[in-house]
Amino acid sequence: MASASRAQFSSKLGFIMAAAGSAVGLGNVWGFPTQAASNGGAVFLLVYLVMVVVLALPMLIAELTIGRYGQANPLRSIASVWPNASKIPLGFGLMGLITALMILSFYSIIAGWLVGYLVSPILDLVGLNSVSHWLETFSTERNLFLAFVFIALTMKVVMKGVTEGIERWSSRLMPLLVGLFVVMIIYIMMQDGAIEGLKMYLVPDFSHFSSDLVVGAMGQAFFSLSLGVTVMIVYGSYLPKDVNIPKTAAQVAAIDTGIAFGAGLLILPAMFVAQKHGVQIYDQAGQLLNSDTLVFTVLPAMFDSMGSTGAIVSVLFFALMLIAALTSSISMLEVPVSCAIEELGQKRSTAVWWIGGLAILLASLIVFNFGSLFGLVITVSTVYLQPLLGLVWAICAGWVWNRAKLLEEIRQGHPDMENSFFWKVWPNYLRYVCPILMGLVFWATI
Ligand code: TRP
Repeated sequence: MASASRAQFSSKLGFIMAAAGSAVGLGNVWGFPTQAASNGGAVFLLVYLVMVVVLALPMLIAELTIGRYGQANPLRSIASVWPNASKIPLGFGLMGLITALMILSFYSIIAGWLVGYLVSPILDLVGLNSVSHWLETFSTERNLFLAFVFIALTMKVVMKGVTEGIERWSSRLMPLLVGLFVVMIIYIMMQDGAIEGLKMYLVPDFSHFSSDLVVGAMGQAFFSLSLGVTVMIVYGSYLPKDVNIPKTAAQVAAIDTGIAFGAGLLILPAMFVAQKHGVQIYDQAGQLLNSDTLVFTVLPAMFDSMGSTGAIVSVLFFALMLIAALTSSISMLEVPVSCAIEELGQKRSTAVWWIGGLAILLASLIVFNFGSLFGLVITVSTVYLQPLLGLVWAICAGWVWNRAKLLEEIRQGHPDMENSFFWKVWPNYLRYVCPILMGLVFWATI
């Protein structure tokens, strides 16, 4: 099924950067700190780390392996590991595509806010204060406008195709983002109140532990590693055969988790610093106020406290975050687009137009019904659909796929794989432990 003309990432580093580019995004800088702040800090961090290692990483390896074996769009890759012709893989594959579109639609709304915060200090500088105020104030019109802008940007990049668009955008950005994070963390640690946040983030208080927290952490881990919706199957299909998949997957997971950890190290202390400056973070009952927009309240407060350098840091930070969000959103759009190109024989531009249009439609639906739909779409897609689809791919690799072929595929990038600890444990781990663990997590919440 392999075709010689299929695009590939030009180097291992290029792939790691692109996969990490998909993984690192709003999930790290918005999702993770928001959830940690709402769920007692350190306990959430701890459970999250466990979830990444025991569930998300093994499943990431499974998705990449299926994709590299199939060398095609996810629908075809999944079918290629099925022993006989069947409609089941197609059904699950389509579910993945729909979930990707759901995620893209709410993602664009949040990423749109980034666009707003990026340009508003610039508009202030040139005297357009009322426009800048409009961009920073929650409203249906603003949300709609900014989500449009973000989806349009995503469509523009995906239009260019994989190696040119995705790899180039991802490669140079990450080090810059990490560097800026370090500077901001050092700054916030020197402020009054930061230690309180640091304590919340690093010293566990187990009274916050609950089964909901565990399900939330599991969903967050799947979201952050872009699992379940076949993004990683697509990326695996662009992966050269001589790459060691388990090792590469571990590197991607490490980068992603490191950045989420760093974001928590910034946001939680920044919350308490902002509180010292009179920004209301908690309500009277001690519940987090407006958790969805927490990050967008706390960070601008921090930039304000930095005086005139604050404006520069702010523009730099939101610009980098916007690009990080883009390298994620393009991975979501790339999935259905790659299917439409190969399965329906469409031109890339045609596929991008209609699927991007669909995403805009969905995003508008959410914006007009923000109160009822925004949280619901996030929960349904990330807490339930992503882990469940992830499980389907684990079962696919662990049960359905011929074991000898699975071994052969993994071995290509790692000749003495059979003697490794990984090989002895992982296939049976996928088979038995992953499904049981996930079952337990869901069972505990019902
Ligand atoms: N992982 C990205 C983040 O943390 C978001 C993302 C990109 C994603 N592709 C995905 C989430 C596919 C779910 C599925 O921001």
